[in-house]
Amino acid sequence: MQGYFFLTSPATKLLLKSTFEKGRNGANRISKNGGGNVERELAGGVKVEVVQGDVTAQEDVEAIVNAANARLESGGGVAGAIHDAAGPGLAEEARALAPISPGEAVVTSGHNLPNRYVIHALGPVYGQDHPEAELLADCYRNSLRIAEERRISSVAFPAISTGVFRYPKVEAAEVALRVVTEDAESLRSVRLVRFVLFGEEDSKVY
Ligand code: APR
Repeated sequence: MQGYFFLTSPATKLLLKSTFEKGRNGANRISKNGGGNVERELAGGVKVEVVQGDVTAQEDVEAIVNAANARLESGGGVAGAIHDAAGPGLAEEARALAPISPGEAVVTSGHNLPNRYVIHALGPVYGQDHPEAELLADCYRNSLRIAEERRISSVAFPAISTGVFRYPKVEAAEVALRVVTEDAESLRSVRLVRFVLFGEEDSKVY
């Protein structure tokens, strides 16, 4: 089941703090809806959503992001789910773009997925690829850059690197939220950024 969260985790507080601070200058706005959930509208009118669910079940977004491996092949977690749902055409198209390095992102079409595009980002392996935070931030930045280049209006991200690659979830959430907050003002095409967190435990992190 997909639902919206109360956004009170350390990472979310960080975002709210920066949102409120910018709000004083008129750049960002934040409001609570009737259910008590926080809707965040960042600089430039970019909407950020945090939902619990499966990244392959985001029919209403134009692009979903894959927590990929360097070879852009199927795998466990997100990569397995995306390749299963997209069908073999995805691996075939992606093969020509591989390998990619940590922090890099490339784009393919969505094949049998309901989304027009899949953006494949390779996160850092925690404790191995340095500097981790910068490489993880690059994944989000490069994915948003590709989205802008393709004139994509909505993007759904999983929590890159926080599974097999063992990046601590709170730290990873802080990086993700920071990049989106920083980049919001320069986004022209992207109007919606959705973070799709898998389990109930993950949902508490944002
Ligand atoms: N939708 C949303 N989130 C998911 C899904 C899904 N269908 N499946 C797993 N997750 C969550 C995990 O719980 C984790 O928090 O996404 C996060 C990222 O997990 P991974 O998919 O393991 O990605 P990552 O840590 O970046 O590792 C990438 O894993 O699958 C292999 O081939 C892949 O080598 C690559 C590595």
